[in-house]
Amino acid sequence: MATVRIPTEGKVLTEEGAVRAKLGEAGIEYERWQPAHPVSEDAPAEEVLAAYAPEIDALKKQGGYVTADVIDVKPETPNLEAMLQKFRSEHWHDEDEVRFILKGRGLFHVRPREGAVMAIEVGPGDLLRVPRGTWHWFDLCADRRVRAIRLFQDPAGWTPHYTGTGAEAGFEPVCLGPTQIPPR
Ligand SMILES: [Fe+2]
Repeated sequence: MATVRIPTEGKVLTEEGAVRAKLGEAGIEYERWQPAHPVSEDAPAEEVLAAYAPEIDALKKQGGYVTADVIDVKPETPNLEAMLQKFRSEHWHDEDEVRFILKGRGLFHVRPREGAVMAIEVGPGDLLRVPRGTWHWFDLCADRRVRAIRLFQDPAGWTPHYTGTGAEAGFEPVCLGPTQIPPR
């Protein structure tokens, strides 16, 4: 379940409807996927893509996505720091950033054209569609682990364009984690 923090307002949203509504204000779509055919989070990529084929196909039709793959990032991933560094500065893409989290967690910061920066922490079962052109930056949580399905309209469009504003400097990449959210 995703959480949304608004650091400048000291707010944390953890309820699914509230999270979806807040993200919707920034044009970001949030869904929870229940696979029709459960598959191990560690299954080979082909098995994962096959298990989620109905959801992936529906998204492809909706968003004009043509390809899907599985990205696997772990602490031992070669050049992990260099890879993360590319996405830690505020940027946008010429295509949607679509991620379905299988395992681990990730932290997106999104800066809407109007309104406060949101820190969106995603975990297993969360699907996020960040529209092309959205100003954002990304980091991993402390365990440096994420496995996710990605969808692309055109993989070439996924090159980051940097805003150069330095907006990311004011926000600590802090994850709350699934166990540190107070019970409602
Ligand atoms: Fe990005």
